[in-house]
Amino acid sequence: MTGTGVDVGIGSALTAAVSAWYASAARDLPWRRPGVDPWSVLVSEVMLQQTPVARVLPAYTAWLERWPTAAGLAAASPGDAVRMWGRLGYPRRALRLHAAAVTVVERYGGLLPRTLPELLALPGVGDYTARAVAAFAYRDRVPVVDTNVRRVVARAVQGRADAPVTRADLALVESLLPLDPEQAATASVALMELGALVCTARAPRCEQCPVRSTCAWLAAARPQLAAPVRRPQGFAGTDRQVRGRLLQVLRDSPGAVDADLLARAWGEPVQRARALDGLVSDGLVDPLPDGRYGLPGEPAGRSPAPLDSRRMA
Ligand code: ADE
Repeated sequence: MTGTGVDVGIGSALTAAVSAWYASAARDLPWRRPGVDPWSVLVSEVMLQQTPVARVLPAYTAWLERWPTAAGLAAASPGDAVRMWGRLGYPRRALRLHAAAVTVVERYGGLLPRTLPELLALPGVGDYTARAVAAFAYRDRVPVVDTNVRRVVARAVQGRADAPVTRADLALVESLLPLDPEQAATASVALMELGALVCTARAPRCEQCPVRSTCAWLAAARPQLAAPVRRPQGFAGTDRQVRGRLLQVLRDSPGAVDADLLARAWGEPVQRARALDGLVSDGLVDPLPDGRYGLPGEPAGRSPAPLDSRRMA
């Protein structure tokens, strides 16, 4: 037993089986390929937060084609980053990635730092992301616990339906990892993949699971959560949708836009004003002195020509 109450033999058997399964069943995703540079891994992890892999794939490729390095992104404006983020959602992530790139250039000469404290000190890099980069990019023996890993471990080891991610999970997951750092990094991504493809929240495919013979949850007849798994909140009509529409107008226009153009994107004035206020206070939109709005750090562009000269043209 370890301090976490997990039998070391069970832990190593679990991660060995899951890693063997991963070798043949994992998706071939570009950020997992050998030799991917650490900055690209950070980009992938930021994009993958709250966003499905299928949506991230084209955005990741296009982003790194345009800005393969932190230095490239840091030289662009934050507004360019928001424009390039496109329709990936939660666009504050674009600003954070840009801010991280600027810090990496200013503090580390353009090379992503390697230690957890240094990664954590980057703007917008939280505990999960720092650990994911340490494990997946630098191949360090660092537990990485997202909701998928948490669910796999809650079920297979603890026999519980599921559980929210807490700091206590870090010690538990660490106790399951092989001692060899490279094998530990593979085990971490393998646990994540098992949770994404097989040990899913709503319809787990236990018949395909590499650890079904030892799974504590299966042995306990798959106890369910007291409260059903929450379905994601609808999108239509939410402030998030309005923010997305307004931001799209700004992304689609080469310079600043006036309030009338934004009004055409969302007719209801109260919700539109609330969404616009939110975008401004999040730093995603700059209100300009002439009453127009622009993406942050971008030149305002030409003012529209006076109405009568446009009519003459
Ligand atoms: N591979 C590495 N990190 C991942 C993540 N966050 N989601 C899906 N696949 C991954």
